[in-house]
Amino acid sequence: MSDYPPEPFRMKMVEPINLIDKESREEAIRRAGYNVFGLRAEDVFIDLMTDSGTGAMSQDQWSAIMQGDESYSGARSYYRLAETVKDIFGFNFFLPTHQGRAAENILCTILVKPGQYVPSNMHFDTTDANIRSRGGRPTNLVIDEAYDPKTRLTFKGNMDIHKLRHFIQDVGVENVPLGMITITNNAGGGQPVSLENLHQVAAAYREFGVPFFIDACRFAENAYFIKKREPEYADKSIREIAHEIFALADGITMSAKKDAIVNIGGLLAMNDERLYRQASNELILREGFPTYGGLAGRDLDAMATGLREGLQENYLAYRLGQTAYLGERLIESGIPIVEPPGGHAIYVDAGNFLSHIPQSQFPGQSLAVALYTEGGIRTVEIGSVMFAYPDPKTGDMSYPKLELVRLAIPRRVYTQSHLDYVVTTFKRIAEKANELRGYRFTYAPDLLRHFTAKFEPL
Ligand code: F0G
Repeated sequence: MSDYPPEPFRMKMVEPINLIDKESREEAIRRAGYNVFGLRAEDVFIDLMTDSGTGAMSQDQWSAIMQGDESYSGARSYYRLAETVKDIFGFNFFLPTHQGRAAENILCTILVKPGQYVPSNMHFDTTDANIRSRGGRPTNLVIDEAYDPKTRLTFKGNMDIHKLRHFIQDVGVENVPLGMITITNNAGGGQPVSLENLHQVAAAYREFGVPFFIDACRFAENAYFIKKREPEYADKSIREIAHEIFALADGITMSAKKDAIVNIGGLLAMNDERLYRQASNELILREGFPTYGGLAGRDLDAMATGLREGLQENYLAYRLGQTAYLGERLIESGIPIVEPPGGHAIYVDAGNFLSHIPQSQFPGQSLAVALYTEGGIRTVEIGSVMFAYPDPKTGDMSYPKLELVRLAIPRRVYTQSHLDYVVTTFKRIAEKANELRGYRFTYAPDLLRHFTAKFEPL
């Protein structure tokens, strides 16, 4: 019996997937240096590595693509996107970028100076790395409960408002060039942030005169959680909730590869005209002219259409229902996950599941490898491989609080039976979990190392 609303679409085109045999999977992962990023996608059966750029576009998006205007400047496609962005987000200015990280790069290049701090609930890896690459210090100030996988809160992505205020006072407002918040909180389980919290965060930043930027990748999913969980918003539309969210901020960075359901694209939007002019110059240097920002005209049209589709309530009910379905089935099977299920992904608590493997030996990596060899399932480690770095002051290794493996669900791509297969694979792994071993690096670059690191089993 389905526990979530049936898909509000049907299939018109399909992409074959194939489970290669176990011996071939073992050989493939060995060749990849035990890093799932090194696998050929063809050798993957169910790909839950990311929900980013992996969604299925609709017939309306494909039709919009045929209308793309490829003029170098001032294309129709740009104006269609501009109208949609204005309508949903309301900012005075916006720039298209090829991805979210390009928007982050531009913003950090302009605003962040060495030694300065950028607070957020939790930064995702690309934001974290973009701040670090300017010599800045990304700082995570999410509520403490976010680090306890078993605590079920309705808004577990909230910022700890007391920590935020004390933090700004402690480091000095002159050392905080901007403040952020990520909705939903990807690095912390895809958990939503309440509108009440967003109001408090905005008030704190405003009081200190710190520009407030929202990392808005999954704003529509966050808005749907607000509608369902924050009683005063039950009768508001997703668009109305989005308006209230973005009216609080000075700007956004956004990867359109998430809630805008496109395969490539991003946004940087702001109210400050001076910042917009500086950002336009950076954009021309790095991405392209401000009316296309490193994308084809057709990509802008797909984004404009996808942004509107991403707000549809029947789609969001199915989308978040599907994620909750996977989460609850895993819990029933005794697999520890970050509770409650998040918006776009389920985060398995690998530190707990494989408690015999110490953090320094990457329990999350071990589980990600096991999911591939056992079931051809690709996931991603969000733990020490991604986030353990030497402390700049002491030089000691600073480990993240959780060792997670993320099962991200591409939008409009997999069915319930695919998810049931994932649960069955987990049950098989659970039977022999104590046999799984840790890993050590044979190659590990300084920033964003999870993409290219190589390992050997211990
Ligand atoms: N911010 C958040 C919260 C993200 O989840 C991502 C990407 C980005 C920024 C960067 O966007 O990829 O378009 O440059 N997250 C993907 C993921 C990669 O798998 O979660 P991008």
